Amino acid sequence: MASADIQTHDYDVVVIGAGGAGLRAAIEAAARGAKVGLICKSLLGKAHTVMAEGGAAAALGTVVDQDNWRVHFRDTMRGGKMHNNWRMAQIHAQEAPDRIRELEAWGALFDRTPDGRINQRPFGGHTHARLAHVGDRTGLEMIRVLQDKAVHSGVAVHMECTVITVPVVGGRAAGALAYYRETGRFVLFRAGAVVLATGGIGKGWQVTSNSWEYTGDGHVLAYEAGAELIDMEFVQFHPTGMVWPPGVRGILVTEGVRGEGGVLQNARGERFMFRYVPEMFKGDFAETEREADAWVTEDRAKNRRPPELLTRDVVAKAIVKEIQEGRGTPHGGVFLDIAAKRPADFIKQKLPSMYHQFKELAGVDITREPMEIGPTTHYVMGGVKVDAETQMSTVPGLFAVGEVGGGMHGANRLGGNSLSDLLVFGRRAGLSAAEFAAQRGPAPAVPGADVDAATQAALAPFARTDGENPFAVQAALQDVMQRHAGIVRDRPGLEQALTQLARLNDAARRATVSGSREYNPGWHTALDLRSLLAVAEMTVRAALERKESRGGHTRSDHPDSDPKVERQQVVVKRDGDRMTVRWEAQPALPADLAKLIKEGA
Ligand code: FUM
Repeated sequence: MASADIQTHDYDVVVIGAGGAGLRAAIEAAARGAKVGLICKSLLGKAHTVMAEGGAAAALGTVVDQDNWRVHFRDTMRGGKMHNNWRMAQIHAQEAPDRIRELEAWGALFDRTPDGRINQRPFGGHTHARLAHVGDRTGLEMIRVLQDKAVHSGVAVHMECTVITVPVVGGRAAGALAYYRETGRFVLFRAGAVVLATGGIGKGWQVTSNSWEYTGDGHVLAYEAGAELIDMEFVQFHPTGMVWPPGVRGILVTEGVRGEGGVLQNARGERFMFRYVPEMFKGDFAETEREADAWVTEDRAKNRRPPELLTRDVVAKAIVKEIQEGRGTPHGGVFLDIAAKRPADFIKQKLPSMYHQFKELAGVDITREPMEIGPTTHYVMGGVKVDAETQMSTVPGLFAVGEVGGGMHGANRLGGNSLSDLLVFGRRAGLSAAEFAAQRGPAPAVPGADVDAATQAALAPFARTDGENPFAVQAALQDVMQRHAGIVRDRPGLEQALTQLARLNDAARRATVSGSREYNPGWHTALDLRSLLAVAEMTVRAALERKESRGGHTRSDHPDSDPKVERQQVVVKRDGDRMTVRWEAQPALPADLAKLIKEGA
């Protein structure tokens, strides 16, 4: 099809991705008077945001009076192993309470305290009970409210639409070229500013909480547009995913289970997390079971937190160690038990989805029996390098927000910080994108030759007769990443991964599909491979480069953190056909914030 025949839409701001971050950005841009188009790969409302089940972190202080943005900032920086963009962590901690109250005003029905305030639950790495929640369906409630608000704000929604390129014209992002999955027809969105909100990269691993949409599209759209990416070695493996039966392996088991008192045990019945409290957190966590349980059910002021509420990087690694040393369960996990600690009514009220999930998918009644769980790929801390105030990338007019943006979470994200991140920075990205479009006016027209080249490349798999099966290439890629770029990595494994990724890149270039363009999953997968392989290569190259262990990146051949590279980032950028990596120092923290982290808030 020639470019002249392609359907086109004109917007001031186009937002790619309709999870919480994209919706919040679209709402804000519309509120600032912009004409906004929102593109979702899937159906509106189906987003990884719903997998943040346990709550949104914000220092509201409704449950613990002493909580405030300073404590939240400190927890976030310590949890991120001091690698976070400090300004983003500060903005996030300061603005999260207002964003939660705003969401409530828009209709979100948060659980309440007995005296009617927004209830907050404990989560890993947070000093105080800080997660505003709706049972264990918080992300779902947020999406419900945000999508209503977006639709009522006049945002035009394009569903089941996959973006294949963000053209850069005259040195600025000029819109998005996409295709409708239902018809296979191409569509060009011309826009004065583009917001990427495509979520993560989890589909590159075998065991993941992510569904089919999370193939790193936004990361790669930005990379191909010439933007810089940071921290791609930092991938979060959530400690608790289902392990059995095989068909549900990886499905998330919310950290809310541990927040509400659930404990981790190995196959010998030992509550093993007591053995894994890192030096940095000693003194903050209980040393005995008695004390840990008393914190949950009796008096939080007098007792210290249970070690199950250490940060995710620490808990996931501890679980792997238990399994590797032969103390795992029959299906290769460990046990998570809340039945022994809480009555059935409490569990059903606080964790209704978990109750049904285990009952229906595994035949396990979590009010009576322990769950079998193990780590699952959940989130990428790395992403597009953005300005902390505006979320604009290094390409003018191209913004990135939510999981596709990098910096906020450092080397490890605290649970609950993603939901507040997407509200805080979604608002900022929408505002900045609308202002950018208004100030700079419509982007220059996208040359027809560029559109033709992109659509022809996308259709190439139909023209090949004897090539690779895209599903087989995807499965091989997931195997490589699971084996060599999982929780624990080393140089030989990462080098092997690079070699195998090069082979799979060749195979992907030979991928063939048959049938028509209408709802053709083989074709969709062939196109996803480009992103999946590129983000996999970014992760592996950055992981090879970082010869230390920090947060979500553990090198068995470099087990300690290296103070020489503290606050040094690995930056990935395209140079012609070559992926380059280089180191860059992050700005030092202002003295008052550094002091706050050291001495306590
Ligand atoms: O465990 C959870 O509910 C996930 C929360 C998050 O990733 O923030």
